[in-house]
Amino acid sequence: MAAHRKLVVGNWKMNGLRADGLALAREIAALATAAAPACDLLICPPSTLIAAVGEVIAGSGIALGGQNCHAAEKGAYTGDVSVEMLKDAGCSHVIVGHSERRQACGETDAEVRAKVAAAWRAGLVAVLCVGETRAEREAGRALAVVAAQLAGSLPDGADVARLVVAYEPVWAIGTGLTPTLADIDEMHHAIRAGIPAGARILYGGSVNPKNAGELLSRGEIDGALVGGASLKADDFWAISQACG
Ligand code: PGA
Repeated sequence: MAAHRKLVVGNWKMNGLRADGLALAREIAALATAAAPACDLLICPPSTLIAAVGEVIAGSGIALGGQNCHAAEKGAYTGDVSVEMLKDAGCSHVIVGHSERRQACGETDAEVRAKVAAAWRAGLVAVLCVGETRAEREAGRALAVVAAQLAGSLPDGADVARLVVAYEPVWAIGTGLTPTLADIDEMHHAIRAGIPAGARILYGGSVNPKNAGELLSRGEIDGALVGGASLKADDFWAISQACG
């Protein structure tokens, strides 16, 4: 069971040009400044907006994160961004191993593991994503798949203060579908048994203001990783307030 404050993360994915991205950040910062949020808040804009969003949210208490990183500190990796660069741009967190990268970019557990280690090297919190496909769940393999992902992508000597695990069933992302609460509880329980005590475990996949209350009131769920609904300030705020 979580004894700590919950965490709600906005993963903007590849959305936001300067004008609308900064307007969104301004709205969220205004909400978080006007009333104390019921949880910790983190927003992860696209790389092009990280520094500018960081300036907008400065002083609001909202944390800033990247959506991905390269494992190396620097070098000939055209198009990539290192954790040192993310930190330099104001990030305290980085999402790693999102299923959209595992699937579309072929990221392996070993690569994800190296990215988590890189995040820790730079002192960033790694938000490590794991989750099964629909076929894997239907085959009764969800727990085994996630256990294998965790075993493969979590470096030894996990730094609990720098680790957040996000359980995101691939079939629930952007689909409007969510697992049953019992299935989420079961998975979070299993994940908790395999990671250092005290690390937060978030749920992600079609979290919205309507379902946030029942999800975030559960002791097994330490917060949410929110995609689509994080692009509207009011929805993102309503989700975060469901932690109260
Ligand atoms: P969604 O995305 O909230 O749009 O389902 C979640 C995620 O991919 O992190």
